[in-house]
Amino acid sequence: MKHLLAIDDLSRAEIDGLLDLSESFIEVTQRDIPKIPALRGRTVVTLFFEESTRTRLSFETAAKRLSADTMSFSASTSSLTKGESLLDTVQTIEAMGVDAIVVRHPCAGAAHRVAQWVDASVVNAGDGRHQHPTQALLDLVTLRRRLGRGGFDGLRVVIVGDIRHSRVARSGVQALSTMGAEVTLVAPPTLLPESLEGWPVVVDDDLDSVLPEVDVVYLLRIQRERLAGALLPSQREYTSRYGITVERAARLKPDTLIMHPGPMNRGVEIAAEVADSPASTVTEQVANGVAVRMAVLWSTLGSGGQIA
Ligand code: CP
Repeated sequence: MKHLLAIDDLSRAEIDGLLDLSESFIEVTQRDIPKIPALRGRTVVTLFFEESTRTRLSFETAAKRLSADTMSFSASTSSLTKGESLLDTVQTIEAMGVDAIVVRHPCAGAAHRVAQWVDASVVNAGDGRHQHPTQALLDLVTLRRRLGRGGFDGLRVVIVGDIRHSRVARSGVQALSTMGAEVTLVAPPTLLPESLEGWPVVVDDDLDSVLPEVDVVYLLRIQRERLAGALLPSQREYTSRYGITVERAARLKPDTLIMHPGPMNRGVEIAAEVADSPASTVTEQVANGVAVRMAVLWSTLGSGGQIA
């Protein structure tokens, strides 16, 4: 695997392989010295044109735990502000001698474009509304560990919220359905994609009728600009119909998991008490993200050897 650009580039067996590899790296991250020399002498750059807390720090931590050198690029403090193009920026960085480029960009397709320009491996850390493949993988690892079952066949997952603008939803639906889960989408009509042709999902508009049946509730962040853009009547209305409030959480099966990719809007799509409850996997998702990104860097940079 030279690049990781989208979940639909991966077969079920390849996803399974990455999940197993991530388990090995979880073991590494739990050691007293959570570091191995697998990528010593290699350089990983995080090239972020959009804000991030989890993904950037997670990739940088992953690279360091594999003993790679790291470089960090932020658009707002770069020569992009002087008019330099994306192509010139990427070629400048590659000329410094990098082996992997981790890209986040607001435009769908940006990571694919960068991969066409460089010899380095490229990992998509989120491109517009399109894909966020490592988020989908870390969600699967988290589910597998929490559920304590071998596979995902027949697992019932509801994804709630702004599906239309969400790269997390697109990658997540592909990953979950490839692995055999049954996915239902619940969202206001204005926050569903214009076409769901080819999406392996069921759509429902009544969250309260769906919740008692599901094994996993996956919440998406309500992007505040959608309120300003009149796609939602009001925050209060959204929470009353689609938010996981304390009252709604009480109607879930006792073992239903509640997931969120972060950043969360507490009190909007998820009540603070629910976010901090034992059913919530939010901090486990972040912790597992480091191991998943170690697995992805290790695979794309072709280390190929044993995990020491
Ligand atoms: N989940 C996620 O991608 O978070 P960040 O935007 O903080 O990286």
